[in-house]
Amino acid sequence: MNGVYGMTWKLDRHLKTPVYLQIAELLERSIASGEYPPGSPLPSERRLAEQLGVNRSTIVQAYAELRSSGLVESKVGSGTTVSRNKWGVSPSHTPNWRQYAEGGSFLPNLPFMRRIRSSMLHHGQMIDMASGELAEPLFPSGLLQSIMQEQPFTEPLGYDHPQGNPQLRVELSAFLRKQGIAAPEASILVTSGSQQSLYLITQCLLAPGDAVAIEDPSYCYSLPMFQSAGLRICRLPVHHDGIDPDDIARLYREHRIRMLFLNPNYQNPTGTSLSMEKRQRVLAIAAELRIPIVEDDPFSLTSFRNQALPSLKALDQEDIVLYIGSLSKIAASGLRIGWLVAPQTVVSRLADARQQMDFGLSILPQWLAGRLLASEGFPLHLLTLRKALEAKQQRMIGALEHYFSENLAFTAHPGGFNLWCKSKENISDHRLLEESIQRGVVFVPGSVYGSEEGFIRLSYARPEPEQMESGIERLAAALRASLALKS
Ligand SMILES: Cc1ncc(COP(=O)(O)O)c(C=O)c1O
Repeated sequence: MNGVYGMTWKLDRHLKTPVYLQIAELLERSIASGEYPPGSPLPSERRLAEQLGVNRSTIVQAYAELRSSGLVESKVGSGTTVSRNKWGVSPSHTPNWRQYAEGGSFLPNLPFMRRIRSSMLHHGQMIDMASGELAEPLFPSGLLQSIMQEQPFTEPLGYDHPQGNPQLRVELSAFLRKQGIAAPEASILVTSGSQQSLYLITQCLLAPGDAVAIEDPSYCYSLPMFQSAGLRICRLPVHHDGIDPDDIARLYREHRIRMLFLNPNYQNPTGTSLSMEKRQRVLAIAAELRIPIVEDDPFSLTSFRNQALPSLKALDQEDIVLYIGSLSKIAASGLRIGWLVAPQTVVSRLADARQQMDFGLSILPQWLAGRLLASEGFPLHLLTLRKALEAKQQRMIGALEHYFSENLAFTAHPGGFNLWCKSKENISDHRLLEESIQRGVVFVPGSVYGSEEGFIRLSYARPEPEQMESGIERLAAALRASLALKS
């Protein structure tokens, strides 16, 4: 294809920029140069895909990218045309926003995650086995509504306490006590979900070049945040009963690791839990080497039988654990309420940084979260949630056994949101995801979590129970198609 200045475009698969973005950039340059004037049609997706020798889905993504920047418009039946508004008319006078957008030090989200998100935006009927989020009916919506109707909101409306709303911290302290964690209000920082705790820790307590150890596979691999902070990442392989504590000492000798990030209960993505014996060993080794542990614990209260092992924080005698919790997996991710329990010095430092970033959290969700935790209905909500999650897991397992028989191996764990599955055949993550998207189902490829190809993470929290069979049937068809394409 001829691009700007009549140069022939060549796909560069070695570039870091994904292919669809390379194509979007080429088209943007062609529009800016006047090759495609305002209002003119762009080639059809099929034609352009053939011309460039790429999948049609890549062109669909490239056009979606241009649409989101306002440069082109798409109408059903009349294809994609160059926008007539000021973006399309004089793009050469506008700053190069793409260059700015790529220039900052914060890395963009992983291409697989962006692909999954955009596929869900463009496909209203997608069965979502990718999101680590509860389905709508599992949120405590009725309970929240009755709190809002029955209890007057009379809180002061100025900036709240830098550590988070004092009353919510009182409720959190009581809530954590029931889980065996002694956390006075002064040791709690209320955060915008667990994610903000992880962000503040990487930004404020660590420096570029520091080595940290994370589980392998791990949710943390899905966070470019760790790379953005310039951290060196060391891997602790996860076994059926969690990491091997001796690996911590080895990594310390080899890399002088400065912090450990662990998700000991119903780990994301594997679903495994660190055994009790290993918990004691991890704490002993970390204490001996004086390595702080960040315990990310969003799932312990999803334990189907309420039998999660005590958290590292509950067992911690030496103040070496920074404990992170959240309402996202047990109540509502949209409330954006999480918490960090840490020594006062750390809490003050992080609260000060957050104050500089955004002057703290909004009072409304904090007020609501405090009332929710204190409500009589919350324990019942948790009970209902656990039962529903167990039933959904069972239904997904039934469907997997039916549609995959022996082709997909997995071990179920009594809590969490995910089944971590391994295909018996070698498959390409990319191919399987694209085939699945075409069939209206999404999952997260294992490589997002740092694993080799062939692993997939299926979440049963989000799809409705009645979607489970259809989702797994579509996935099985996608796997067959991927294997057929391979041979
Ligand atoms: C292990 C783990 N930690 C942290 C988070 C972030 O959750 P939130 O910021 O919504 O509390 C997630 C979300 O998927 C997670 O799985």
